[in-house]
Amino acid sequence: MLEQLTQMFTRKSKQAAAIEASSDIPVHVAVIMDGNGRWAKMRNLPRIAGHRAGMKAVKEIVKAADAIGVKYMTMYAFSTENWKRPQEEVDFLMKLPQEFLSTELDELIERNVCLKMLGSKDELPSHTLEALEIAEEKTKGNTGLQLNFALNYGSRKEMIHAMQELARKVQAGELQPEEIDEAAVARHLYTRDIPEPDLMIRTSGEIRLSNFMLWQLAYTELWFTDVLWPDFTKEHFYQAIAEYQGRGRRYGAV
Ligand code: IPE
Ligand code: IPE
Ligand code: MG
Repeated sequence: MLEQLTQMFTRKSKQAAAIEASSDIPVHVAVIMDGNGRWAKMRNLPRIAGHRAGMKAVKEIVKAADAIGVKYMTMYAFSTENWKRPQEEVDFLMKLPQEFLSTELDELIERNVCLKMLGSKDELPSHTLEALEIAEEKTKGNTGLQLNFALNYGSRKEMIHAMQELARKVQAGELQPEEIDEAAVARHLYTRDIPEPDLMIRTSGEIRLSNFMLWQLAYTELWFTDVLWPDFTKEHFYQAIAEYQGRGRRYGAV
């Protein structure tokens, strides 16, 4: 038993060590955490049990990312379209940030993690927003991994917001239409202070973006797996990173 455990441990650290040894660690990894509902259904459990199980995977993957030196992790937790779900499920999902932070915030602070929310704050219940704002405030000086939770995030909503801001500046005479270039648009997105993702992972076998970072993913490497989010482990994560390291990024050049 002990030998098995030791072997397991050595194998895992070898995997992480091999990835770390390559200088090509993605700076920013974005994740569409999908499949919680199906994970629960397979076990005859309510969907919310899947979301709770998914929280464990968040903890493990954030740690695994930190361990190899990823600087930014963005976790898609709730989309602007997810309000269409049954009220009970929405209510539960809106309580998850508090639940996550009540058990994890101290450790995140210890590990020098800086937490940020990406998304529209307007529709969020005050208890959800408050928990996130407290966490942002407490971690704002931290210089380690930046952990972004995309919550009530929708890429089209984000872009519309940016367009309105730009239009307002043009109307006020602060900006010329010709000055609206890629950098100007990027500066008006929620991600203005964050580099574009190098790698995007989606779990659960769905091959689509579901309104996630449509602007920012223009040249991101995409990696899909059939594994459901609550079953996603650090071994899967390191597999994604290793495959990323084997790809050639050309950005349109040769
Ligand atoms: C992802 O899992 C979590 C959220 C979208 C909040 P789902 O809840 O979408 O799980 P499936 O896709 O129904 O299995
Ligand atoms: C995308 O998953 C949103 C999150 C993971 C938060 P969905 O489950 O909502 O996406 P669709 O409906 O299958 O496209
Ligand atoms: Mg889903």
